[in-house]
Amino acid sequence: MRNVTLETVFLHPVTQRYLKRSGIAHAIAVAEYAFDLAKQYQVNRDHATKAALLHDVGHYTWYTEGKWDYDKYRKNDIHAIKGASRAHKLLIRIGEDPQVAKEIAVAILLHTDSYLPNGELQLKPLQQVVHLADEADEETGGNHHYRRIDDKSALERIQLLDQKIMQWLSMNEMKHII
Ligand SMILES: [Fe+2]
Ligand SMILES: [Fe+2]
Repeated sequence: MRNVTLETVFLHPVTQRYLKRSGIAHAIAVAEYAFDLAKQYQVNRDHATKAALLHDVGHYTWYTEGKWDYDKYRKNDIHAIKGASRAHKLLIRIGEDPQVAKEIAVAILLHTDSYLPNGELQLKPLQQVVHLADEADEETGGNHHYRRIDDKSALERIQLLDQKIMQWLSMNEMKHII
């Protein structure tokens, strides 16, 4: 059962608004990595790709005189906390199953330990997938947040992920029937 597609999540104005801050290209690449990692870690590919797509929606823009202030960001950032709450609100609003919305929100909350004094989180497989997918797309100096993508290829890549998730879900349903 799947209440909401990745395309619905992606095209929502709230998603578009916040992903533009942290980079749509990064969010899509992380969703693609999460799809493959979900297979490896045997976690739900629908949940993993949604969490990955939304993992950075909590970003605030830390600018000082028109330039990204990395030091200010490092000291004050709580994007994982903010993102978990924002993603949860959005998912519930568009009709996601509440338990799925919770699982996705927690994976977003734990995708980084940058806001904790001493890190070291014990992650569950879905949370590990989102964390590793994010790491896989990281570039030095936070450059992954500035990579550009045109609207058409962004939507095409989301639709391709949706197709793969649907195929995986129907294969899973077949297995249960047999
Ligand atoms: Fe992040
Ligand atoms: Fe990220």
